[in-house]
Amino acid sequence: MNKNLFEELKKQGKMCFLAPMDGYGDSAYRQTMKKIAPHILCVSEFYSADGLVHSKFLADSVLPHQKIEKPLIIQIFWKDPEMFWKAAKIIEQYDVAGIDVNMGCPAKKVVRSGHGSSLFINQDIAFKIVETLANSTHLPISVKTRLSFDGNQCLIDFAKWLENAWANLLTIHGRTAKQAYTGKADFTQIYELKKHLSIPIICNGDIEDYDDGINKLQNLDGFMIGRKSFGNPWCFLAWDYHPALAEILEIMEFHAQKLIETKGEKKWSLEIRKHLVQYLHNFPWVKLYRRKLVTVENMNDVLFILSEIKKDFHDYLDKKPSLGEIKEEI
Ligand SMILES: Cc1cc2nc3c(=O)[nH]c(=O)nc-3n(C[C@H](O)[C@H](O)[C@H](O)COP(=O)(O)O)c2cc1C
Repeated sequence: MNKNLFEELKKQGKMCFLAPMDGYGDSAYRQTMKKIAPHILCVSEFYSADGLVHSKFLADSVLPHQKIEKPLIIQIFWKDPEMFWKAAKIIEQYDVAGIDVNMGCPAKKVVRSGHGSSLFINQDIAFKIVETLANSTHLPISVKTRLSFDGNQCLIDFAKWLENAWANLLTIHGRTAKQAYTGKADFTQIYELKKHLSIPIICNGDIEDYDDGINKLQNLDGFMIGRKSFGNPWCFLAWDYHPALAEILEIMEFHAQKLIETKGEKKWSLEIRKHLVQYLHNFPWVKLYRRKLVTVENMNDVLFILSEIKKDFHDYLDKKPSLGEIKEEI
């Protein structure tokens, strides 16, 4: 447990994070991203503080992780400071590196119940949550939020108060909660914010890959990539890295294997299907395999499809689809 984690990482260079993504950022996803990009820092998908406190089953399902995922940050959401305190005590037992508080989720259900981005409006509660967490654990506390709730709140004031409440790092998604995912992420206010705070500030939103993140950094301490990592752990690599078909097939097998190891076959088959299709989205011929990929029932089905692709594209295994090197349709 190290409150200075982010300050130490900052000294080593610009920080590059995998964004927390519900339905994606589980242990298998994180292991897959880190296998290709060991330098990234992973934030888990969000879990309710209340859920972790009241369900040992949930805590035992989502908090254990592998060495390769470290240092792992667990993201939680809720609105009651006391519940964060209790959740921190549970999270601490799983040897994680930090706790991230979700203050950015724009989903109606989450906002209506006073969680996520609604804390940008209920700011007293937001500060109390961070203060309570900071006093209850030796883990560093980070907050992920947005530019504002609906454009009527001041990011700099909000962030300064979070820093005063002992937040150790802030990630800002360059949209308001009201915008959800519409429009383009804008980092102008985030660059300005950095001038007013001393803790590390991370930008997020519409970053294409590592090089794009570095180009957009300006005075910031790091960046976070979410959607561009779907089926593409290579997005975290520098110098515009493009994987060959053989590398893609290999990582698909790895991801499927890790998911089955961590979730068991029943849950696995429903979850792995979306990932498998995403890995092949750059191929014009993916439609020939899509039906098979979205109906896999077990690991043997995956291995069979992968071997079929290897056979059908034997001469193209070292070609890079994203560079247009495989044009042939079968
Ligand atoms: C499927 C999905 C699930 C998400 N779940 C979370 C979440 O659990 N916690 C969170 O703070 N943000 C969540 N987000 C928001 C992302 O972390 C990120 O802020 C957003 O996607 C913008 O970054 P990007 O353009 O790099 O994807 C989610 C986004 C997506 C697309």
